[in-house]
Amino acid sequence: MGVKTKIINPSEINTLLRSKKSSGIILSGGPNSVNDKSSPTVNPKIFNLNIPVLGICYGLQLTSRLLKGKVVSGETREFGPAELEIVKNTPLFLGIPPKTKVWMSHGDKVIGIPKGFQITAKTHDVKVAAMSNETKNIYGIQFHPEVSHTQYGEKILENFVEICNLKTKTAKVNIPAIVRLLENQMPSGIAICGASGGIDSTVAAMLCAKAIGKRLFPIYIESGLMRMGTKEMVTDIFKKHVGIDVKIVYAKGEFLKRLKGVTNPEKKRKIIGELYIRLFEKEAKKIKDVKYLVQGTIYSDVIESKGTEHADKIKSHHNVGGLPKKMKLKIVEPLREFYKDEVRSLAKQLKLPSSVVLTQPFPGPGQAIRILGEVNATRLKKQQLADQIVVEEFKRFGWYKKIFQCFPVMTGVKSTAVKGDSRKYAEVVALRAYESKDIMTSTWPYLPRKLLQSISSRIVNEIPGVSRVVYDITTKPPATMEWE
Ligand code: XMP
Repeated sequence: MGVKTKIINPSEINTLLRSKKSSGIILSGGPNSVNDKSSPTVNPKIFNLNIPVLGICYGLQLTSRLLKGKVVSGETREFGPAELEIVKNTPLFLGIPPKTKVWMSHGDKVIGIPKGFQITAKTHDVKVAAMSNETKNIYGIQFHPEVSHTQYGEKILENFVEICNLKTKTAKVNIPAIVRLLENQMPSGIAICGASGGIDSTVAAMLCAKAIGKRLFPIYIESGLMRMGTKEMVTDIFKKHVGIDVKIVYAKGEFLKRLKGVTNPEKKRKIIGELYIRLFEKEAKKIKDVKYLVQGTIYSDVIESKGTEHADKIKSHHNVGGLPKKMKLKIVEPLREFYKDEVRSLAKQLKLPSSVVLTQPFPGPGQAIRILGEVNATRLKKQQLADQIVVEEFKRFGWYKKIFQCFPVMTGVKSTAVKGDSRKYAEVVALRAYESKDIMTSTWPYLPRKLLQSISSRIVNEIPGVSRVVYDITTKPPATMEWE
């Protein structure tokens, strides 16, 4: 929104109280329960500073508890979409229809509001979906305005900015500024960069190529875990759009060897992350004066991998949480502060073709986290064939570009099938497809029956060792997009 924000720890609140420089305070969400003594809290004096306060989810519950309202641990937790009904107009809901879709993710709920507050919105399951004390400019909402699936989330945040007497402006991603930063970050020496054919690593490489030219050395590690045809695609993209040839390193055997017997998803991510880095380092030794490793890490990778004192780690995205502690190369991440839609806008500005801009994101650990349980050559082959069928059929029915990602999952569960009059006890494949903008939330699409039927028939008929196909109909939250 172009407004400068600063994330502070509860312990820093006293400094804030002393400086009185802030225009508004947002108490954000978090996985804790306000009723636990060890949960994060703030000095209640912040409510008397004459600075507008907005409590979001945990922030609403905290506001309520600190001002003597009542919060209980909900018998039913609420994750995913809900219909918000505005019961009283407030400046926070200016320009928002009386009934809208919002995204919830909480266990506790407010059942008693503090003195001086009014309930401003409810949902089917939550009586206090929003509350406010307009005299003191204190607002609280149970849902998440920051995710794209909350219909008027951005408008609500803009309204809060207005309440704080600030102006909103759209920040344009500035390519020359990023390039200047990269020039300073890599004043001399060679930078190797991991290429995967995905939009993130391609955009990161293009920005670095603008900054350091031929001092950039792209490498594609053929782990065998990518989609079929990835190697050819990467080679082509770098030749045509980055103007530098990519070096291919063949390492499928090594990846399979390290993954043998490994079933824990986090372990898989760590093993893959570590092996990628070691292979990059091995290649780096062959070139003179290599100092940096460029990665296409984006902001959602960072948030979900990190975990902080008060935020849960969701999973170690291999290029962030999966990095080994001791590394010889300096990591350069030009996109670390950008969301996916901003990276797409950068890609368009860089004039990358729509085949790259609209290509579906693909996770770094690749098919390994779509094969539940052990990854071996047979299951990897099944997964890749099924994946190719899913992509082909989505493209044939004109659905590939309408959704954010689509893929099969080898579930590791076995079920009975009859193939050619004989009984088969074979693996169940799950189809995952969803719509998303910011990666933090997603919904599953109502796919045409013909598309679903075609995918299911092709997978069970063309791939040995598969008994049936099921369709995953779970939103994020609670279910993450990838199964592992
Ligand atoms: P989840 O499963 O966390 O996925 O809802 C969110 C998005 O991130 C991708 N993803 C990854 N990307 N390294 C990556 O580069 C990873 O380890 C990783 N894990 C998930 C996922 O495909 C989706 O687009």
